[in-house]
Amino acid sequence: MQTRVVPLEEGKDPSLINKTNQSRALPLRLFQLFGLFLALCIAFTFISIYTIRFFGVQSVVTTVKSNFEPCFEKEKPNGLDNWIKPPSNLMHTMSDKELLWRASFVPRIKKYPFRRVPKFAFMFLTKGPLPLGPLWEKFLKGHEGLYSIYVHSLPTYEAKYPSSSIFYGRQIPSQISEWGRMSMCDAERRLLANALLDISNEWFILVSESCIPLYNFSVIYHYIMRSKYSFMGAFDDPGPYGRGRYNENMAPVVNISQWRKGSQWFEVNRKLAVNIVEDTTFYPKFEQFCRPACYVDEHYFPTMLAILVPNLLANRSLTWVDWSRGGAHPATFGRNDITEEFFLHKVFEGQQCTYNSQPSSTCFLFARKFAPSALDPLMNISSKVFGF
Ligand SMILES: *[C@@H]1O[C@H](CO)[C@@H](O)[C@H](O)[C@H]1NC(C)=O
Ligand SMILES: *[C@@H]1O[C@H](CO)[C@@H](O)[C@H](O)[C@H]1NC(C)=O
Ligand SMILES: *[C@@H]1O[C@H](CO)[C@@H](O)[C@H](O)[C@H]1NC(C)=O
Ligand SMILES: *[C@@H]1O[C@H](CO)[C@@H](O)[C@H](O)[C@H]1NC(C)=O
Repeated sequence: MQTRVVPLEEGKDPSLINKTNQSRALPLRLFQLFGLFLALCIAFTFISIYTIRFFGVQSVVTTVKSNFEPCFEKEKPNGLDNWIKPPSNLMHTMSDKELLWRASFVPRIKKYPFRRVPKFAFMFLTKGPLPLGPLWEKFLKGHEGLYSIYVHSLPTYEAKYPSSSIFYGRQIPSQISEWGRMSMCDAERRLLANALLDISNEWFILVSESCIPLYNFSVIYHYIMRSKYSFMGAFDDPGPYGRGRYNENMAPVVNISQWRKGSQWFEVNRKLAVNIVEDTTFYPKFEQFCRPACYVDEHYFPTMLAILVPNLLANRSLTWVDWSRGGAHPATFGRNDITEEFFLHKVFEGQQCTYNSQPSSTCFLFARKFAPSALDPLMNISSKVFGF
């Protein structure tokens, strides 16, 4: 058999064998040969698969071992997550200069390659404690994922919130800030810059410890989200407390017809927040030439934005305040002022403004100033009067 197989194996032409061998023996020999060939093929296949698997697995394991650091065990190495996840700890060691630079990063492709739910950044500019905190907790409850909180307080103030509080761990590195001085604008820019580090923050809402929300979260979220304009009070006041504070040394960067005044409490979108943190043109002029009695926090952002992006401004504030008592400070309301009638007749009644270029009677979403003693009655009437 061996001698017969060999010539057959070596013979390339079956027709030649056909001629030299007997017709009865040929099918059997062919069959045997085919069987052998098949066996060899199967053996080779198994060896190949086993080899590939073994070495394949071996090399993957090697890669995994060499690329993973113990602290990144749950993260995809170099994935997009590293860019889009907000910092887990708000404390950092960046200087203001470094922070503003970092916060000025803007993606040039406008469509986000991931599901981005736009959030509101509530930025609390405070001296320290937040006496109306429980009202804000009630207001924000159930809306997790749609907001983030940042608190700027005096650097000496040590926040002690329980880990269940919405204010827990939300303090940003802060510095002393004085009303009417550039250090106040610095604090506001610091809040904006820290909040910009979370790419999901779309609206930036500046409030103080004496501010309260006037509607439930859904109403406020939709009102602001659907607005074509950012809310920054900006008007041309010809009097001594308006144009009277203008300093001619600011020209030609700012001339008198461009000078604006407005309340410091604003709601701006991400684009304008970047305009504010990236500014190096107007800042030196205001720092040098707007000092008391020029109160820079009433002029810097309104004037700068009215020059840079006039068509993106609503030119009004969303924060109700009562100046009717006169004097340098607005009225502060305490325990005895807080009644349903106070809100229905004093705050909500007779509002008139434009919203997205249409007349509207819903003009104020927040109000100030409220004393700590107002908390209890506010909590009491909030569901009936504010809807939360
Ligand atoms: C919020 O208030 C509006 C208007 O008062 C009301 O229609 C809506 O149901 C409230 N939403 C929630 C979630 O309570
Ligand atoms: C101020 O600037 C505006 C806009 O650039 C210009 O139209 C106006 O003439 C300037 N006014 C003065 C007094 O320089
Ligand atoms: C806000 O004021 C600017 C001028 O400073 C103006 O160009 C703009 O149209 C105003 N915005 C609205 C919504 O009226
Ligand atoms: C809360 O409301 C109830 C009923 O309206 C009233 O009896 C109570 O005195 C109120 N508490 C405060 C602190 O206002």
